[in-house]
Amino acid sequence: MDAKSMRVPLGRLPPAPRRLGLALGLGLALLEPAAAEERRAASACRDIQTIFLPRNKPPKDPLGLLARRGFSLEDYFIGQSIGKGCSGAVYEAAAPAEPPGDGGRGPKRKEGAGGASEAQGAAEAEGWKEGFPLAIKMMWNISAGSTSEGILTTMSQELVPASGRALSGEFGAVARPRGGLCGKKWLKPHPNVIQVIRAFTSQVPLLPGATVDYPDVLPSSLSPSGIGHSRTLFLVMKNYPCTLRQFLSEGRPDPCVGALMILQLLEGVDHLVRQGVAHRDLKSDNILVEFDPAGCPGLVITDFGCCLADQRLGLKLPFPSWYVDRGGNTCLMAPEVATAVPGPGVVIDYSKADVWAVGALAYEILGPGNPFYGQGGPALDSRSYREEELPPLPAPAAPEVKELVGRLLRRNPAKRPSARVAANVLHLSLWGEAAVGRPGLPLPQLVAWLLRQSAAALMTERLGGGRGVVSGLKRGFLAGLDYEELCEAAALLCCWRGAACPAPQ
Ligand SMILES: Nc1ncnc2c1ncn2[C@@H]1O[C@H](COP(=O)(O)OP(=O)(O)O)[C@@H](O)[C@H]1O
Ligand SMILES: *[C@@H]1O[C@H](CO)[C@@H](O)[C@H](O)[C@H]1NC(C)=O
Ligand SMILES: [Mg+2]
Repeated sequence: MDAKSMRVPLGRLPPAPRRLGLALGLGLALLEPAAAEERRAASACRDIQTIFLPRNKPPKDPLGLLARRGFSLEDYFIGQSIGKGCSGAVYEAAAPAEPPGDGGRGPKRKEGAGGASEAQGAAEAEGWKEGFPLAIKMMWNISAGSTSEGILTTMSQELVPASGRALSGEFGAVARPRGGLCGKKWLKPHPNVIQVIRAFTSQVPLLPGATVDYPDVLPSSLSPSGIGHSRTLFLVMKNYPCTLRQFLSEGRPDPCVGALMILQLLEGVDHLVRQGVAHRDLKSDNILVEFDPAGCPGLVITDFGCCLADQRLGLKLPFPSWYVDRGGNTCLMAPEVATAVPGPGVVIDYSKADVWAVGALAYEILGPGNPFYGQGGPALDSRSYREEELPPLPAPAAPEVKELVGRLLRRNPAKRPSARVAANVLHLSLWGEAAVGRPGLPLPQLVAWLLRQSAAALMTERLGGGRGVVSGLKRGFLAGLDYEELCEAAALLCCWRGAACPAPQ
């Protein structure tokens, strides 16, 4: 079956320009079969992408229907503390529509026809936590000691994953200033990246545990030892059940789930790279975990306080002196960043830095622990380790996953796959069947497999499935399909399978 006949079961004709492209491809087939095959595969990838792009919708925001609410601290019930880092404290929260008194039970509200049940239904379907569906991060505002610019920069970085309407209360009519805030980029929503759904400044309140947990960063009016300012930035997000660190402390996931977790981190990082953002502080405390209806862990990257998201610089940071901040988490700093020596004209390229950190995190997910923290062996230093020193991953992990993790931890970024290619390798490896990634790269088989995947994804959606982590990953893969990057991944698999697989018949 070729790409054209496989289109029929999908029940939709490609748009006219695509049909033209295909005809062109077929015409050339008479002259140059191999090139035509490639053209046809590339065109199939574009068609599939066109179909899935609009279907790959971002998750719903349960406050979205209440466009005018949630822009001040008074709109929320604040519960217990759920986390603390070096830039702020995080509390569970709820945003009741009716005056406090409904027992603090989540976003139940009656606001005109349909609004209430619709909002709540959507919230529950998307797995928002009952009771306290939200988390509020209160930033510290301490300019004494550290520079006030430093604080302001951190705070604007925290807004990089803010949704379009997150700032519309505080910052007036400008829903999302075109030029960004403080020259920072905005991220489009993605299933594996946190979404900040509201951001506003407010007076610092005295929250539970404040005088015990962080007396020094409170304003002096609330704590005698406090050096904080009385006003600060608040960020509202979905409340996730746990962090990746907490999840892993309860035991190692099975290898197949582990691979799905690594894949989600790669998808999240790919999304950042494509938009010219580097997170620079990936670690298990900065990754949140929720569970789909089947219990499969869904991962989101959070805490953008150290990110590089400069509108002008993109992923290339000039490094003229040691005063330039290279990001958080020195243990998980990619070799090219960790070994950079400042000087005139020196530039650090972050385009493969986060994907290196995913390689290190893969050791935490699959076991035996992160070699760069010295878990399960002597600690490796990212500045000086040799690739042969990386410990073996445990036997239950699939050989292709192990190969991939090894590649992610290559010292030379040019030899490291991009996040996109690495994610494609896992997509092909997890559900690519024997047809793909065999030596000789049988392109028509790759295309036939893509079309089967597309048909299956459309059917799953029609039958009301598609809420799970796996369906979401498959949909995202099809929506971002690029022929070149797919081939690059298939070629990697080919070379690993070369010895073990029979040659194509
Ligand atoms: N949306 C959330 N849902 C649940 N817990 C969260 C959420 N955001 C943060 N946390 C918890 O709070 C901790 C600190 O948050 P983070 O954004 O990483 O702040 P910091 O910049 O201070 O490190 C996290 O490690 C996590 O335990
Ligand atoms: C932090 O405090 C300073 C000094 O009081 C204030 O000018 C600034 O607006 C505060 N930052 C935020 C985000 O509220
Ligand atoms: Mg953090």
